[in-house]
Amino acid sequence: MIDLARLRQAFPDRHILHFDSLDSTQRAAAGCAPGTIVLADRQLAGLGRQGHTWHSAPGAGIYCSLVLPPSPVLTLALGLATVEAIAQATGIQCDLRWPNDLMLDNRKAAGILVQLVNGQAIAGIGINVNQTEFPNDLDREAISLRQHAGREFAREDILFALFPAIDSLTGEDPETVLRLFTHASSYVAGRRVTVDQPGGVITGTTAGLDPAGFLIVRQDDGTDTLILAGGVRAAGS
Ligand code: BTN
Repeated sequence: MIDLARLRQAFPDRHILHFDSLDSTQRAAAGCAPGTIVLADRQLAGLGRQGHTWHSAPGAGIYCSLVLPPSPVLTLALGLATVEAIAQATGIQCDLRWPNDLMLDNRKAAGILVQLVNGQAIAGIGINVNQTEFPNDLDREAISLRQHAGREFAREDILFALFPAIDSLTGEDPETVLRLFTHASSYVAGRRVTVDQPGGVITGTTAGLDPAGFLIVRQDDGTDTLILAGGVRAAGS
């Protein structure tokens, strides 16, 4: 169980809802007041990006949704905040696969889903903290901080760092977020990638972010394609 009393004491001004088990913190947060934080120890129908589910084993991960004002480059800012919080709380430095997958050892350690509901951004953050295994084929794609470091971590310590990091990074201007993201992510420039696009799969080399935060992929014939959604993989993986 997450130590809720410690969290509420540390963030007395925040409205923090906690559930032992629910379908998805995203659904619980939709319609809540701005600033609300929803946490769960377990999700029965965790939502991932692009229609995927998010495996949410009991007590092993952080399953968190925050109600935030929508802002430009919010998804990039949330990825940066999550990287910063994990580094601060655990010493582990994750890479960022555009737009906001946190990567360790070429596997995904955390993911972020932003949904717009009635003019509010519902920012869902899932972090694989203490999982020792993942079901079926997922262990080729997913990794926990514990699997990476060989030791357990207190989820509260990450949350203590996460909420201030989100406040700080979502308060930055878009140019600063783009600069920080470009610095933090090995995927933004010079990386050979394969991308699922509506018209099929393309392969090319990443060539930076446009001013709106979309990823530019340069194909071998020189064509630049702006990637608007995820689906980016290191080529050959
Ligand atoms: C992704 O596919 O990378 C995004 C995963 C987001 C998972 C989190 S867990 C907390 C919140 N509630 C959900 O149902 N999904 C998000």
